[in-house]
Amino acid sequence: MTNRYWPLFDLRLHVDDLELRPMTEADQELVASTLPADLELDPSATTYAGEDPHITRGRIMHQAYWKYMGTWTPKAWRVTFVVSRQGAMIGAQELEGNDFTMLRTVDTASFLLPAARGQGHGKAMRRAVLALAFGPLEAQAAITEAWHDNHASLGVSRALGYLPNGESLESRHGADGESPDTMVHLRLVRRDWLERRGGDGVRIEGFDACRMLFGLD
Ligand SMILES: CC(C)(COP(=O)(O)OP(=O)(O)OC[C@H]1O[C@@H](n2cnc3c(N)ncnc32)[C@H](O)[C@@H]1OP(=O)(O)O)[C@@H](O)C(=O)NCCC(=O)NCCS
Repeated sequence: MTNRYWPLFDLRLHVDDLELRPMTEADQELVASTLPADLELDPSATTYAGEDPHITRGRIMHQAYWKYMGTWTPKAWRVTFVVSRQGAMIGAQELEGNDFTMLRTVDTASFLLPAARGQGHGKAMRRAVLALAFGPLEAQAAITEAWHDNHASLGVSRALGYLPNGESLESRHGADGESPDTMVHLRLVRRDWLERRGGDGVRIEGFDACRMLFGLD
């Protein structure tokens, strides 16, 4: 263990030829400067008049990182994994637990750089964090949501065995302001994940030292 104060930083997930490791302060500049334009960020985040929109997005990402690291508890946590292939960053994959010790449910979000899309990496990196969730974190369910027209995100979820979990009408921020649109919700339960052997081929390193952070004995 090299990070005795924050062992999360020693956690590693390996799947196919991808490595996932929790984002650190040192990754922020690179991740912020490569955020794809189609990645939706928190629409309620603070914006400043006159700020360059690219800087705004990177700043929101920086603040989200500090927020989730700084307010981490076993009950509510969110970890962003930097995803690398052959040593180069290709995207990020988030895993989140809210009221996790009671609900045992995780949520996910992710992005890939445009050049890395459509090659199965989106499914692989989601499988990696689900293997962590349904494996040592002992989750009972994973939920996810995407706008009805985000076919790649919905495609990843469906390919991994998530089932329909309803739809909701939500406010969507577009070029012309806000308008109502349909969010699709999906859910994957532990039994289906285990039956499909979704975690086969995923290697997890450095988890034992993190057990305490997730409220596990
Ligand atoms: C979401 C994202 C990470 C997925 O990565 P990806 O590389 O495209 O995903 P994969 O290639 O692993 O798999 C995509 C799946 O969706 C399917 N898919 C993709 N586009 C599709 C379309 N237009 N219609 C139907 N299915 C589609 C693919 O066929 C594949 O499923 P399959 O294996 O069953 O054939 C990536 O598209 C991305 O970064 N999008 C922008 C950010 C974003 O919207 N993130 C999600 C919300 S947080």
